[in-house]
Amino acid sequence: MAIIDRDLLGVLDCAGKALYHARMFHVVLHEPEIPPNTGNIIRLCANTGVTLHLIEPLGFDLDKRSLRRAGLDYHWMAAVTVYPDFAECRRALSHHRWFAIETGGTQHYGSVVYQADDVLLFGSETRGLPAAVIEEIGGATQQLSIPMLAGNRSLNLSNSVAVVVYEAWRQMGFGQGVSQTPAGSAAT
Ligand SMILES: C[S@@+](CC[C@H](N)C(=O)[O-])C[C@H]1O[C@@H](n2cnc3c(N)ncnc32)[C@H](O)[C@@H]1O
Repeated sequence: MAIIDRDLLGVLDCAGKALYHARMFHVVLHEPEIPPNTGNIIRLCANTGVTLHLIEPLGFDLDKRSLRRAGLDYHWMAAVTVYPDFAECRRALSHHRWFAIETGGTQHYGSVVYQADDVLLFGSETRGLPAAVIEEIGGATQQLSIPMLAGNRSLNLSNSVAVVVYEAWRQMGFGQGVSQTPAGSAAT
């Protein structure tokens, strides 16, 4: 179920301000469970122009009231698409290059030259990404890990997304990103 179909996504808001840019990364969350993590990621994507894709089942509701309660602006959901399963998401983004961001890989996330339109796939908070899903997108060659000190298990999901999105965006010169919020504008 798409909240708002991405193909119908307007690139201008009602004030004529550009909201999302034509070519940017795609973040996919596989069966996310914890609302504040996805909330942080929705906000991160809104701030960077990344398109967010959520694969069900989700551990929370995405109705307007729940979003408001979580401090999320409903218009950010314009760049969020929800899929009933991994296969459907994979089909929708079949022409893109995919990376699985998961612990235990041999390549680290900073060793890749990212391209606009890359898909960055993250696992759920308690289960991570299923091995079959990692295999489906190319196995070890497409798996990227974020270094941690030995003996540690994993980072928080939303922190992981932020680390990789900002590295990918940094490599692209931060596109149309700016460092300052104009006075009086809504802070996103
Ligand atoms: C809290 S982790 C849980 C998964 C982890 N494999 C586990 O069960 O111990 C949730 C997600 O954050 C991302 N993640 C967390 N730490 C990571 C790391 N060091 N390298 C790559 N991805 C990481 C992955 O996408 C992972 O599926």
